[in-house]
Amino acid sequence: MQILCPICREVLARTPGAWRCEKGHSFDVARQGYVNLLLVQNKHSLHPGDTKEQVLARRAFLDSGCYQPILDAVCQTALRHGCTGPILDAGCGEGYYSSRLAEALGAQLVGLDISKEAVRCAASRHKDATWLCATAAHLPVPDGSVGLLSSLFALTLPEEFSRVLRPGGFYLQVLAMADHLLGLKSVIYEELTHKEKDSVPTLPGFTLEESVPVRFSFTVEGAQVQNLLAMTPHYYRISKEGARRLAQTQTLRDTASCVINLYRKN
Ligand SMILES: C[S@@+](CC[C@H](N)C(=O)[O-])C[C@H]1O[C@@H](n2cnc3c(N)ncnc32)[C@H](O)[C@@H]1O
Ligand SMILES: [Zn+2]
Repeated sequence: MQILCPICREVLARTPGAWRCEKGHSFDVARQGYVNLLLVQNKHSLHPGDTKEQVLARRAFLDSGCYQPILDAVCQTALRHGCTGPILDAGCGEGYYSSRLAEALGAQLVGLDISKEAVRCAASRHKDATWLCATAAHLPVPDGSVGLLSSLFALTLPEEFSRVLRPGGFYLQVLAMADHLLGLKSVIYEELTHKEKDSVPTLPGFTLEESVPVRFSFTVEGAQVQNLLAMTPHYYRISKEGARRLAQTQTLRDTASCVINLYRKN
């Protein structure tokens, strides 16, 4: 798939050491194999997105196989509807889902995340894909060039996602539901507030093809309890008291609850 210069939107010519556009903008290929296309003006902090600690925690947790039912359901949904590549995974994290989805579909993959640490980690997992540090708000790919755009537990930007999808292309979204990780939440919070969540949002420019709920129980022990926390937004919200209670939790029985929504571009 063509990758565009984030400055002038010309196509980037890829050489092993650097990618360059005709206007002379150049982006180094990092030793680990990813390319940083994130412009300073699209950074809201010095190190945007997930931190190294979060990325490593996510990798350790996902590699334990705990969330395999989500991965399997994602791949089966995409296969059932005849999704084809190229795949662009927005907010790909350390690449657990995107690399396996690409394998399942036999498709070309571009994984993109605003966190440099995340794409660095993803590049070490799967060498055959293109891994980019960039923002999903300005995807560095041409209009109509993507067959399947995925965003798992990450952001949805209907206008930009629709721009890059070809007519009839798919958008696969995974959203956490209100009862996701209630076990973790009941350890770290004094009181649980129930927030209604729209599990199947209406997206302008898209038609829903299928919505697949995924719900299962699992147990984590020892360091995986902390890894689970680091994968969630609760990592930023936890109080000292909540952190202390979690540190004393050796075994946590919990429930994962999410929904896979597959949309087709109109
Ligand atoms: C909850 S994580 C999910 C990661 C991965 N999809 C998974 O399920 O394992 C959300 C990811 O979105 C990334 N992210 C946040 N804002 C972003 C943006 N504007 N553009 C691209 N990625 C972004 C974060 O760095 C993080 O890796
Ligand atoms: Zn350029």
